Amino acid sequence: MSELTSLMQLIDWNNLPRHIAIIMDGNGRWATQKGLPRIAGHRAGMETLKKIISFSCEIKIPILTFYAFSTENWRRPPQEVNFLMRLPHEYIRSELQNLIDNNIRLKMSGDIEGLPQHTQKAVREALKKTEKNSGMILNFALNYGGRKEIINAVREIAAKVKQGEMSVDEINEDTFSQSLYTARLHDPDLLIRPSGEMRLSNFLLWQLAYAELWFSDVYWPDFTEEHLLQAIYNYQKRDRRYGGIEL
Ligand code: FPP
Repeated sequence: MSELTSLMQLIDWNNLPRHIAIIMDGNGRWATQKGLPRIAGHRAGMETLKKIISFSCEIKIPILTFYAFSTENWRRPPQEVNFLMRLPHEYIRSELQNLIDNNIRLKMSGDIEGLPQHTQKAVREALKKTEKNSGMILNFALNYGGRKEIINAVREIAAKVKQGEMSVDEINEDTFSQSLYTARLHDPDLLIRPSGEMRLSNFLLWQLAYAELWFSDVYWPDFTEEHLLQAIYNYQKRDRRYGGIEL
């Protein structure tokens, strides 16, 4: 029996994570290890991304978020940044029809206005064309920074209070969450980070408060459906207490 088949039998299909967040890390190291330029790693990472999206849709994961470009990634060499900025555009061109056919709704979390015009245009068009879809939500964190997101939310709430549209007493976890890029999305239950790094890197700092974390040494381009199932299986064996105790 293949590993995939045996993992499929171990999974409790009634207890899937409602939202899985993934940090696609290790593209650069994967390429360097093979004597290839870093951008070859991102290209391979993009193929892994498509494969994992399609499999997650098949096994009916309700929400999937990928960290595609952070506010810190602008510090990379311009050639790499330009390449990374072309990927969303390229992804949309090749996959939009597929997303529509599979009833997938695209969402973006991040400062979209800070992206190059061509990226913005492709992104807005894809958001519009999938907004009525009711299946899996595919969320890309693009030009995203967790601290920036929190500061933006604070500013938005402060402005509402100043204008008398909101009272200080109305500020709570729910109303705060509604001012984040991820408003109306359930918080991730599971965070996956491949490539051996064990940090959050400014990703979904508020939303990951109670997420289970799963790390693996595999570089993102080598990440497979089996790794995803291993992470889900591992998640299902954990005892989530949210600060409480077993009674
Ligand atoms: C991290 O690897 C990966 C990224 C910064 C970019 C990942 C983006 C994609 C695979 C495609 C995005 C596509 C869409 C559709 C939005 P790294 O370069 O930090 O790897 P390293 O730590 O080994 O150097």
